[in-house]
Parts: sequence; C-alpha cells; structure tokens
Amino acid sequence: MKGLILSGGRGTRLRPITHTSAKQLVPVANKPVLFYAIESLAQAGIDDIGMIIAPETGEEIRAAVGDGTRFGVRVTYIVQDEPAGLAHAVLTAEAFLGADSFVMYLGDNLLQGGISELVERFRANEPDALILLTAVADPQSYGVAELDGDRVVALAEKPAQPRSNLALVGVYMFTAAVHDAARAITPSARGELEITDAIQHLIDAGLRVESHIVRGWWKDTGRLEDVLEANRLILDTIEPRCDGELEDSQLDGRVIVEGGAQLIRSTVRGPAIIGSGARIVDAYIGPYTAIGEGCTIERAEVEHSILLSGCHVHDLDVRIESSLLGRNVTVSRQAQQPRAYRLMVGDNSEIAAP
Ligand code: G1P
Repeated sequence: MKGLILSGGRGTRLRPITHTSAKQLVPVANKPVLFYAIESLAQAGIDDIGMIIAPETGEEIRAAVGDGTRFGVRVTYIVQDEPAGLAHAVLTAEAFLGADSFVMYLGDNLLQGGISELVERFRANEPDALILLTAVADPQSYGVAELDGDRVVALAEKPAQPRSNLALVGVYMFTAAVHDAARAITPSARGELEITDAIQHLIDAGLRVESHIVRGWWKDTGRLEDVLEANRLILDTIEPRCDGELEDSQLDGRVIVEGGAQLIRSTVRGPAIIGSGARIVDAYIGPYTAIGEGCTIERAEVEHSILLSGCHVHDLDVRIESSLLGRNVTVSRQAQQPRAYRLMVGDNSEIAAP
C-alpha cells in the first residue's frame, strides 16, 4: 500500500503567513503540521509516499521534508500544476500510484491516534474505499456523508443544506478503482474535481465504500482558530523536558525547553514549548504557547499563541494572546513620542489592539 500526501493547497485562509510559506509547514507545537502526516503513515507501515506539491510552495516543502529518510520513508515529489481539486491530485499521481491501493492524507490535517488500525481494517475487509467521518458543528464547510447504518449512501461537498453533521476527514483509503472515478466526474461549482464526487461515483457504480467514525480529535488546520486549537491539543500530550538553561526562572506543568534556550527571571506555565536558542527574559509565557527557534521575549507576556522562528517581542504592557506570528516578526512598545502605532505588516494581516 502506498501513501499520497497532498501539500499543494494555497492556504488562503491563513494569509499573510501563507504569502511566504506553505500552509502545511505552519508549526503545531513547533513541528510542521505536515510532519505529523508523514509520521502517521510511517507508523502504519506505509513507507512509499507520493507528495503532491504546488509550483509556488513545492521547493519549501522539498527543503523541509527531503527524501524522507529521517522519517524512515521514501518520498517522491509530484507537481500539481494548478489547484484543480483533490481528485485532480489523484489523477496527477496516477503514474506513481499505479495499480496499488493507497492512503490519501491531506497535508494540513491532524488526526489523533494515527491510522494503523484503519489501514489494517482496510487490508482485512478489502473495500473499494474507506472514508473517515466525524461529527462537526458546521458541516456545510466540509464534505458531508449520509449513512444507512454504517453504509455510505450519499456524499455532498460543502452542501448548503447538509443531510447530516458527519464531515469527511481528510484521510481516505482507496483501491485503484478511484482513478476511473476521478476521470468520470466533472468540476464542481468551485471549479475543482472533488474527491467527494469521485467517492460518490464509486457508490453509484455499486462499489463498496466503508466508513469509520473517528473517536479521537481531528483538525483541518486551514484557519487560525484551528491552528491554535491543534496547538493546544498537541501541547496537552507533550512530555515535559528541560534541555535549556534556567536562571531565577520557573516552569509550571507540562513544559518543554529545547537545548540552547535561556530563561532569565521568567515563568513558563505549560502546556508550552520553548524552541532551541530562544531567550525569555523578565517575561511570562502562558498555557498553550509555542515559541519558535531563536525567538526573544523580553519584558512581555505571551499566552495561547504560536510564534514562528526569530520573532522578537519586547516591552509590552499588554499580553499577547491567541496570535500567530510569522517568522522574524517584531512586536514592541517604544518610548518615542507621539504615542502611536508604527506598523510594517504584510498583506492580509490582522491587528487587534486593546
Ligand atoms: C477538503 C475536502 C472536504 C473535506 C476537507 C477535510 O476540503 O474537499 O470534503 O471535508 O478537505 O479537511 P477543502 O480543504 O478543500 O475545503
């Protein structure tokens, strides 16, 4: 069985971060979200992985993942020229996939508990497809399944009037039958070849599509709230460890301090992770925060946030909360008069001041 990870999406809902970086590389607990997908496939014994990339962000993904050796897998890169849909991505990968069954994993999805059991079930039952479902509050934002018992009777992509609250999770298992289905369908209203429609085509052709309702949590990290929530969920599971240096500082609860990080007269209240080489001086880092490599936080407070590498936050009189800072961002307060905001921010940034 092969793996197919989709890392081509544009990530429009995470701008401006995704103006300069692939959404699949946004870190969750200081690790790119995409790495969790690779690890999950590796754990299920799937070591031959095709990675769909877009022309714009593909190089960055190649640089981060390499040939897969460090995950114990072999990665083959496949360029999808245009964002023409998930079923289009499958067709683009047809030469790589050949006649093999495969797990398709959306590179911005996080699924608790891995997929090993599901891969075993797929191998044992030999359906034509196995889809994962979970109940959500806003089914109209996802592919939605209608079940009769555990048999899938109908699927719809982002329906205005959902027939159930069961969303399609971005992890799918297919036999090679899906190639013909992907060829048979036509583009949806948003102009994409939807995998949801391809699966419906399998059902209509009388093929066997099984479903599994996921028990643990699942997150599609397409929006800021989801990235922050994924960060919370992963940080809740970390094993505390301190490889950095502490001077008059305190770590409460689940905290990881990476090597080369320095904490001076500061408190970190977990769950939190402080990246390597970070400097935390006269500062407070609160629960559910991931501070990236080489960040400096001085005389400031940060909570429930993700800071990418190289950020500099200093001299704030108000706490930073529920925020995502890109690489090398500076946030500071200056004594300079007149008292005013002095900003240099990219397109689609958001600033909410107290
Ligand atoms: C895609 C699928 C949708 C699925 C979702 C899961 O949506 O089209 O059926 O529920 O992934 O993350 P998109 O991310 O393209 O909006």
